[in-house]
Amino acid sequence: MKIFIDSGNLQDIQRLVPLGIIDGITTNPTLLAKESGDYKEILKKICQIVQGPTSAEVTETDAQAMIRQGRDLSKIDPWIVVKVPLTRDGIQACKALSSEGVKVNVTLCFSPAQALLAAKVGATYISPFVGRLDDVSTPGMELIRDIVQIYENYSFKTEVLVASTRNPMHIVEAARLGADICTCPPAVIDALFNHPLTSIGLEKFLKDWEKAQAVKA
Ligand code: E4P
Repeated sequence: MKIFIDSGNLQDIQRLVPLGIIDGITTNPTLLAKESGDYKEILKKICQIVQGPTSAEVTETDAQAMIRQGRDLSKIDPWIVVKVPLTRDGIQACKALSSEGVKVNVTLCFSPAQALLAAKVGATYISPFVGRLDDVSTPGMELIRDIVQIYENYSFKTEVLVASTRNPMHIVEAARLGADICTCPPAVIDALFNHPLTSIGLEKFLKDWEKAQAVKA
């Protein structure tokens, strides 16, 4: 399963990419609004650092305007993936942009029916939001199970990009269900590393080693 960073923060991206576990980046208008500087320059730098798919979201809502903005965003860097919302206009824009060879990530997906529509118009990625569903007492992972099954039934090539992840169990459950990608906030990626037995075990190994060296000296 691929791991994307869900962030527009260059410091976090520069810190995490060298670990060797990062396959791409997702941004959205909320995330980029937190960063200072020109958003296109930020996106360009992100692409240069990660050398992987980097989602940049349109802010237009009309299909033709989304297509124009999507084309413009895709010129920033060859790694740019244009993100469109799962609306009628977004689906229409996805069809047009995908037909031109632009990679499209259809975002704000909350139902299997919506995911089916995105696959039918050639989306490269579908982004179901698990955390926001959990927030309203609806199990987000059931949506992932449904989408994975539907896409398998019809051999759709659209990749399931699990979004709105909040904790390591979202990542583990997504992997169990066979999702293609999880996009994670930096704090969730950091949390994937943590296990108290690893820390306790390492401390003991190093202490025992030091003791043995002291005896031999
Ligand atoms: C990613 O593509 C989404 O925009 C993001 O995961 C949303 O996460 P949130 O629900 O934590 O804002």
